[in-house]
Parts: sequence; C-alpha cells; structure tokens
Amino acid sequence: MTKLDGKIAVITGGTSGMALETAALFAANGAHVYITGRDKTRLDRAVAGLEAAHPGSVTGVQADSGVPADLDALFRTVAEKHGRVDVLYACAGIGSLSEPLEEVTGASFDEVFAVNVRGTLLTVQKALPLMGAGGSIVLNGSGGSVRGVPGSTVYAASKAALRSFVRVWTAEWGPRDLRVNLLNPGPIATDVVNRIPAGVIEQIVNGVPAGRMGLPSEIASAVLFLASDDSRFVRGSELFVDGGFAQV
Ligand SMILES: NC(=O)c1ccc[n+]([C@@H]2O[C@H](COP(=O)([O-])OP(=O)(O)OC[C@H]3O[C@@H](n4cnc5c(N)ncnc54)[C@H](OP(=O)(O)O)[C@@H]3O)[C@@H](O)[C@H]2O)c1
Repeated sequence: MTKLDGKIAVITGGTSGMALETAALFAANGAHVYITGRDKTRLDRAVAGLEAAHPGSVTGVQADSGVPADLDALFRTVAEKHGRVDVLYACAGIGSLSEPLEEVTGASFDEVFAVNVRGTLLTVQKALPLMGAGGSIVLNGSGGSVRGVPGSTVYAASKAALRSFVRVWTAEWGPRDLRVNLLNPGPIATDVVNRIPAGVIEQIVNGVPAGRMGLPSEIASAVLFLASDDSRFVRGSELFVDGGFAQV
C-alpha cells in the first residue's frame, strides 16, 4: 500500500522541475497523474518519461495556466476521463528575480499575475466541483514572498497573494473535508537556474543557512506529505522547504 493508491492527481506546470519530480513520486505512490505545460514537445517528452517508469499512470494536457479557457479544457478532460480530482498541486508559475522596481511595466506585472495569481485561483476554482471528501490542494508559493529579494517585486508579490488564498479558502470551507496548504520552496536547482544571472544565484545561495540549493526531490517529498493523509489535520498552513532561507 502506497500513499496515493487509486488517487487522481492534477499537477499544473508539470513538464520539468519540482512539479515533474512530484509527478514521478505521485505515480510511484499509486496515483494517476495529469500534468500540464504550454509546450507540446516538452509535455510529450515528460509524459513519455513518466509512462516508461509507471505505465498507464500519466495523462498530459497542453494548457497555459494564464489562459482561463485552457484551464476549462483541462478539467473537462479530467471530468470525462476520471470524473474526480483527489489531489491538486497548482505549481505553474513564472517571474523574474532581476526586475527592479524601475523596470517593472504594466505588461510584465499583468503577465506574472495572470499566471501566478489569477491562474492559481482559477485552477482551484475549476477543480473544486470535481473534488470530494478527503481532497487535498497544494499551492506552490516561494520563500521569496517573505524575504525582500532585490529585483523580485512582481514575482514576490504574486506569490504572497497565495498566502492569503490558503487562509481565506480554509476559512470558507470550514469543516468540509477539503484541505489547502501552501508550500514555499527556497532556491531549488531546476531549469530556472539557467534563466537567472549567476551573480543573483550566488547571492541567494549565500542567504541559505543550509549552504546549498535544494533538490526537486526535496520538494516532491514535502508535496507528497501535504497531498496524502499523513497531513490530514494540516490546513491553511505554509510549509517552507528552503534550507532555512526565509526563516533567519
Ligand atoms: N526553482 C526555484 O528556485 C523556485 C523557488 C521558489 C518557487 N519556485 C516556483 O516553483 C514553480 C516551479 O518552478 P521550477 O523551478 O520547477 O520551474 P521549471 O523547471 O522552469 O518548470 C516550470 C514548469 O512550469 C511550466 N509552465 C510555465 N509556465 C506555465 C504556464 N503559464 N502554464 C502551465 N505551465 C507552465 C513549464 O512548462 P512550459 O514552459 O512548457 O509551459 C514547466 O513545466 C514555479 O511556480 C516557481 O515560481 C521555484
């Protein structure tokens, strides 16, 4: 018996990084996992890799979390194929750590908020009708939402919005058997590293008490905890998986 036997899981932005690692761990724990991404080639490659290890455990759906119609299509597919969602990991997110306030534009603000804030809200809202008793939702935030990392004005604020989401929804849902929690990664060694200037990475790692970046597998095991019944009395909380980055 594994932790997610027979569960239906949806992971947005699951074609690389910590979400792909989580999809593999979910599949290894008995779940059928839907993963999304914008790029079809990357999506197909991720599905093929997961299917090779866990045949029949994965469905890929091309969907941009910044496009509401894509999210409608995603959950229509899940409804038709499985009729329910037990676990939702809303991980898709974008943003820059090298955009000082003077360089922020209306367009850059709207682009990040459309994916990270509106996209996360609509992902949860559209999943809700498919979620029954025992459902668990995990949002992906960032340790940067509580640390003043220079250059992260828009990104950090967009992730800070998720801190409110988990608290308000936990209050709105009351005793309903449905949970939502926020996982805040610190600096994690994913493809994102290739898109951030080396100097910025070095500066961030210097601020991590653990003295290194985290691994995608270290996020995946924490998401599995929040997704599974191991955490069934954990609601509206924030779990920082950050080597101490946002704690000191
Ligand atoms: N790595 C870190 O240090 C770190 C720290 C704190 C928080 N985070 C957050 O963790 C999440 C994942 O980060 P990561 O480092 O694992 O990233 P990653 O390796 O770059 O992977 C991002 C994934 O999200 C997908 N994606 C991007 N925009 C999307 C959109 N609009 N709709 C659907 N899918 C989308 C990408 O595929 P496509 O490009 O094909 O869409 C890819 O599968 C993000 O929310 C990020 O903000 C990362």
